[in-house]
Amino acid sequence: LIAFLAPKPLAGQRVLVTAGPTFEAIDPVRGITNLSSGKMGFSIARAAREAGANVVLVAGPVHLPTPRGVLRVDVTSAEDMRRASVEHAESADIFVATAAVADWRPAEQAVHKIKKDGSGEVPHLSFVENPDILSEIAHSPRARSGELFCVGFAAESQDLLANAQAKRARKGVPLLVGNIGPATFGRDDNALLLVDDESARELPHASKRVLAQQLVAEIARRVSGWSA
Ligand code: CTP
Ligand code: CA
Repeated sequence: LIAFLAPKPLAGQRVLVTAGPTFEAIDPVRGITNLSSGKMGFSIARAAREAGANVVLVAGPVHLPTPRGVLRVDVTSAEDMRRASVEHAESADIFVATAAVADWRPAEQAVHKIKKDGSGEVPHLSFVENPDILSEIAHSPRARSGELFCVGFAAESQDLLANAQAKRARKGVPLLVGNIGPATFGRDDNALLLVDDESARELPHASKRVLAQQLVAEIARRVSGWSA
């Protein structure tokens, strides 16, 4: 009932969220990934839904329940995530990229499990860079014309403000959100730094659920001039 009565600042908006890590296969039984829990992205998908949006959540491999009313698309690799995201971005009004996309993938994926040959030789992996999903979508004609509002996240271990400002410019997004770490991966709480062209504003330490609601309100304010 409370959710029903709450204001719907994103009513009628279509929101695309990426969340979680990606998994890049080495062979059929192994791969590389990272410690992203997906909690921030799932919280944003839920908050956007509660704000009245139609939400598509493109999720890397995580074990989290799908927020009620959200369309979830499960993917594994960065290339899968790119494909699903580009497809759904075509009809989205807002794109929030929270996924910790693996920056590199093994250049080759072995068809069969790589075996020890008994000689003590170790495999030598080489890597290629993955597509930058956020940058690609943020530089698309719909995003450049303002039809699609893109929001990036940044995990930095140092110089958060300077790195976030540089990342915002490089990715071509109007709003870049920095995780005020240190270790936010897997935690239920966080603090965020919102960096846009005017200013940097802090959303102080809170649960990811509350931060997601605050971020959704900030996005709604920028997209439709809505204010609480
Ligand atoms: N991102 C993405 N696709 C990638 C890499 C990152 O869509 N291949 C998105 C993330 O979802 C996030 C933003 O870009 O919203 C910033 O990700 P981050 O890893 O902080 O930045 P990178 O550009 O990968 O730079 P680096 O990891 O070297 O800091
Ligand atoms: Ca990265």
